[in-house]
Amino acid sequence: MKFKTLAVHSGHNPADHLGAVMTPIYQTSTFAFRGVNQPNEFEYSRSGNPTRKALETCLASLEGGAHGFAFATGMAAETTVVLMFSSGDRIIVHSDLYGGTFRMFEKVFRGKGIEAVYVDLRDAASTERELARGAAAVWIESPTNPMMNLVDLKAVAELAHRFDAIAICDNTFLSPYFQRPLEFGVDIVVHSTTKYISGHSDVVGGAVVTNQAGLAERIGFLQNATGTVAGPQDCFLVLRGIKTLALRMEEHNRNALAIAHWLEQRPEVSEVRHPGLESHPQHALALRQMSGYGGTFSFRLDGGQDAVFQLLERVRLFTLAESLGGVESLIEHPVTMTHASVDAATLAQMGITADLIRVSIGIEDVEDLIADLDAALGE
Ligand SMILES: Cc1ncc(COP(=O)(O)O)c(C=O)c1O
Repeated sequence: MKFKTLAVHSGHNPADHLGAVMTPIYQTSTFAFRGVNQPNEFEYSRSGNPTRKALETCLASLEGGAHGFAFATGMAAETTVVLMFSSGDRIIVHSDLYGGTFRMFEKVFRGKGIEAVYVDLRDAASTERELARGAAAVWIESPTNPMMNLVDLKAVAELAHRFDAIAICDNTFLSPYFQRPLEFGVDIVVHSTTKYISGHSDVVGGAVVTNQAGLAERIGFLQNATGTVAGPQDCFLVLRGIKTLALRMEEHNRNALAIAHWLEQRPEVSEVRHPGLESHPQHALALRQMSGYGGTFSFRLDGGQDAVFQLLERVRLFTLAESLGGVESLIEHPVTMTHASVDAATLAQMGITADLIRVSIGIEDVEDLIADLDAALGE
């Protein structure tokens, strides 16, 4: 079946739920046994819950994977994946990534002996050099947040496998509608379903998908053992969002590309970082491994932080808020907001400077969004 059909139907069969067309919310902690030593399919909601199972099946099918897992948040998903590793393991981590992932590696796992080694995965020679020193995994994010740099998924997964490391990719920014890393040889995909997958800024959640039974067994064990699961109400909200994922992604993509082109022409704007623009240094790679660009990108203003703060104060339709991927347009300043937990030297090295703005373009009418930016820039 094709993506849009899977998004609507995968994981749910009305006949299994008294004919309910929508997956019911099984708001129960425990399930009755049929008799002594005769459990039903579900026993206890940390180990398994029908609403969560519907979401997990759906997530796996959308990513083209065999095994899906739903978590309480994106960070719970990431933490559970990293718990597969042991003290003494090295993980090669893309040097440009979401601040919360960086914080998890530095402030949670480094002290427990799991060492993140930061490498620019766009540089094959450095990646190979670090892999040759020994690594359990390579952690990819593409496109990166907020710089919109891309990593060649196929090349990095192949390189990782040559050195017996697994490849893990955070696919939050594009959702499986525009990029399916497993098809390029990546072993594990992680998501913050808080973003495009749920799409309405009304729930936090995370996901992990893999094709490999061995990895799935370890992740499933850890999900239950650590209790990082998503609750049934949240699973329902994510499932409801997924039904319109394809439609929303098309609209986010169209609006964001139009606004990126418009910003590129503005005299106040010094750079637009959007992989769909020909000016993006990895535009050719974008065309190879992505079928669209999503709705999030960043740009710089000539006037530095003062000009940025002025724009943030003046917009009316854009909401000044962290997060991304919802139906409404958001705007934010990475240095003082989403990436405030990253130290100044690392930010500078990543190119996240005070003149940078990140936008998450929603599905409003693009003319209204452009008018809002136009008025805010022009006042
Ligand atoms: C790329 C990326 N990965 C992971 C996360 C963490 O997800 P959550 O906030 O759902 O824990 C985020 C959140 O902003 C993100 O942008």
